[in-house]
Parts: sequence; structure tokens; C-alpha cells
Amino acid sequence: RILIIDFGSQVTQLIARRVRESGVYSEIVPFNNAEEALETFNPAGIILSGGPNSVTGIESPRAPEKVFTMGLPVLGICYGEQTMCEQLGGKVESSDEREFGRAFLDITDDCKLFDGIWNKGEKHQVWMSHGDRVIALPEGFRVVGVSDNAPYAAIANEDKSFYAVQFHPEVVHTPDGAKLLSNFVHNICGCAGDWTMASFKETAIAAVRQQVGSGRVICGLSGGVDSSVVAVLLHEAIGDQLTCVFVDHGLMRANEADEVVTLFRDHYNIHLVHKDASDLFHGKLDGVNDPEKKRKIIGGLFIDVFEEEAKKVGGADFLAQGTLYPDVIESVSFTGGPSVTIKSHHNVGGLPERMNMDLVEPLRELFKDEVRALGRELGLPEAFIGRHPFPGPGLAIRIPGDITQEKCDILRKADSIYLQEIRNAGLYDAIWQAFAVLLPVRTVGVMGDERTYDYVCALRAVTSTDGMTADYYHFDHEFLSRVSTRIINEVRGINRVVYDITSKPPGTIEWE
Ligand code: XMP
Repeated sequence: RILIIDFGSQVTQLIARRVRESGVYSEIVPFNNAEEALETFNPAGIILSGGPNSVTGIESPRAPEKVFTMGLPVLGICYGEQTMCEQLGGKVESSDEREFGRAFLDITDDCKLFDGIWNKGEKHQVWMSHGDRVIALPEGFRVVGVSDNAPYAAIANEDKSFYAVQFHPEVVHTPDGAKLLSNFVHNICGCAGDWTMASFKETAIAAVRQQVGSGRVICGLSGGVDSSVVAVLLHEAIGDQLTCVFVDHGLMRANEADEVVTLFRDHYNIHLVHKDASDLFHGKLDGVNDPEKKRKIIGGLFIDVFEEEAKKVGGADFLAQGTLYPDVIESVSFTGGPSVTIKSHHNVGGLPERMNMDLVEPLRELFKDEVRALGRELGLPEAFIGRHPFPGPGLAIRIPGDITQEKCDILRKADSIYLQEIRNAGLYDAIWQAFAVLLPVRTVGVMGDERTYDYVCALRAVTSTDGMTADYYHFDHEFLSRVSTRIINEVRGINRVVYDITSKPPGTIEWE
């Protein structure tokens, strides 16, 4: 196992992912909690991340001294290199010659880090992002790579197994970076590389059995990837001790509710309560226009209905949730101030306190793509695993203004045509999320010599890696024309289609 000490870089998570992709389990810990983790985690090696600070500043973060005295291999990246050098007696200075983006590394000497990828005398592309730079090495180190503005861009002290690089091997713009990290964890730290989803699955199942014993577990199922994987994993671990509750708010896409019930109840034979609460949700949303009010109403009702259904099945000892690793990583925050609420995300965060139950969170250690891999390992159909994200409040936040059953039906039809065409064109997997929005605007049209006065449908499709930033998808015009024609011809109530070309930021992915 590898412990990654985080100094607040935007890309620390990528280090953990690259290490895991090479078959070695890794976790991230903020620098100020690292001391304790070094004891409990029992790592085979340590990676020091990048970070926004300058080691030349007063009170800039440091790695615990123990990092360098435990006899473990250490790899410093960017800020990690600088603090390593400073702490071991070298020197770092702020420099006017900063390097951001693509740079070239001259390999000046062979090094275990470069085994099988880079040789002395070669030049290779790397990704840099630094203002400060090392100007004097601590004792025992030698230079193995230089760039234009970093005379110590890669350094090594092989006796102690300390290595450091000024560039970022974890980002894709350092094309050989993943191999370099793999060299560190396998060849230098001696990790075996047997962390696979098959082994994770076995360990997770054993852990659930151990935690739950003969207790009963209740699990909210939405049909999204995370809750689906939790449900199937738990079912495999504890069988009938699991009850799933699917609160159907009537704001799902076309056929979605049926698909969930068929897969989990009929195919997997999971004990599933399907609560059709459509009328209740629609009733409470009647006349509500404000996006935040919609979100609050849906979130609150969801919890009420879930709790009621849980009582009906006789309660449970545990509540299962699809919490993922990015939700549990304590991020290093240097700004400290509260961030502004852009949207109140619908989740069941309030449930555990209210229901006073212990949590079962088998995905706590996984990234999203690892959850997908686990889903495949568990035999979940590809259609569920590769699904675009769908927000908890469902179609409610894709119908700006008043929500009516009629509008939901119109939107479902348009959305399903749009997605069908995206699938037919083979574009589904290239897109992070695609959906239709029904605008509360009517415009005049002419169809078959008749005047029409119907709704506008907006189409949205974005690419993204994590939903935090996004760009709109650049469809070709033929494709957009085909979708527009089909929607207007086939969906009564829509006579105009527009395409949303806003990126995030400044827009958000959903319209509300
Ligand atoms: P925004 O619209 O904030 O969306 O750019 C980012 C991602 O989050 C999804 N989303 C939600 N997911 N509950 C969820 O589970 C919600 O309340 C919610 N609101 C937005 C959105 O679909 C996109 O993938």
C-alpha cells in the first residue's frame, strides 16, 4: 500500500488513481493528519503531492519528519520535491522563470524511476506547474533530469530510496508518467500489484459479512451506478438480509422505473420495495417554480417516504449507502472560508441521523471508474454501468417553472428520442451527460399549413471528467437536424428545438 500525503494540489486524486491502476492500493491523507496515518496505514512507500504554497513562505506546510526516518521509499512531486529538499537540507527559491504546462525533460542520468521508459541522453515531454524551484540539493542526492527552468527537475538519493520530480507524472500530459509511478511503487517500494477488482470484491464481501453479522440492511436504490453496485454487492454478501427501497418520485426518464424493478427484483431476486410515490411528489411540487424550493421539497419527501417504507418492512439494523472515495477524502483547504451553495444537491445525507442506524458503505474506498469496474465484476449489465449520471431530483430540474404530469410526459418522449439518436450514432460513451430540457416558453410555428403555439425543447450534451467543469459537445449539424426533426414530428407539444452551447463554468450542467 502507498500513502499519499496531500499538500493541496488540484491533481492529488490522480496520483492515487494512477497508483491503483498499476494494481497497488493507495490512500490520500492531508499533510496535517499524516503523522497518525503513517502509524496506522503501514505503507510500503510514501508519495508527497504538489500544492499551491511556496516552501519559502512562513508556515508553509511540511511533511512529518518521520517520513524521512522510517526507512521507506519516498517520492516527492512538485511541492513535494521542494519540501523534501528543504527539509533534508537543500535550498529552494522563488523564481521569475516559472514553468506552466508542457516542458521537456533532458534525462541526464539513468535512474530506477526511469527503468524501461527513459534512458540517459533522451528528451521527453512532461507537465510542469511551478514558480519555485530547487537550487541546491540535500546531501546524498544526484540530478537525473533537467528542464529549461528547473536545474533539478528529477533527483534521486538511491541509498535512501528518496526520489523527487518537479513535473507532474500523474497527469496525462506527462505521457510516460503512469509508468514512472508504476516503477516507483513496484520496483522501488516492492508492492506486488495484486489490487484488482476481483480481489476487492472478495474483500468487500467479507467485510460486509463481518460488519453486518445476522443483522438486517436497508438500501435506497435509484438505478444509478453507485446504488446499483451497492445493492448487488450486498445481495451477494448477505442475500435475504438485504431489503432495497426504490422511491419512485415519478420524475424518472422513460421506462426507467420498469427497468430497475425488472433487473433487481426479477433478475437478481433482490427483495425490492417499489414505492410509487408519483402523486405525492407531483402534488407537493404543484405550482412550485423556484429551483431551490423544488430541490428541497424533493429531498425532504424522499427521506419521509424512504423512512415510512423502511418502517413497513420492519426496520433494519443498518443503512447502506453508495458513498465514494472522493466524498470521504478530507481535502486540504487553504482558503478556509465557507463556499457558496450553488445548488442543494439531493442526497440522502440526512437519513442516517434521522433513522439512527449504522452505515454500511462498501464503496468508500473507490473512485467512480473503480465502481464501474466492480459493477462489471459483479455482472451488472453494461447499460447500467455505463449510464450517464442522472440527478436525484430527476426531471423536476429539467422543467424550469411549473411541473405538470403533462410536461413530464412531453419531456420523456423528447429525451428518449434524443438519447436513442445519440446511441445510434455511437456517441453515448463519448458524452458525459446528455438530456433534453423542456422550457416554459411557447413559440409560434407552422406545421402542415396550421399555426402552432407549443413549447421549446433545449438539448444539452456535455463532456467532462468529474462533472465539476464541462464543455458542450460539438455535434455535427446533420445530427442536430435529425434529432430536431424527429422531436418536432414525433412529440406533440414541442414545435422548436434549440441546442445549449454553454460550458461549465459559467453555466452548470443541469438548468436548475
Ligand atoms: P451541475 O448542474 O451542478 O451538475 O453542473 C453536476 C453534476 O451533478 C448532477 N446533479 C445531481 N446529482 N443530485 C445528484 O445526485 C442532485 O441533486 C444533482 N444536481 C445535479 C448533474 O446531473 C451533473 O452530473
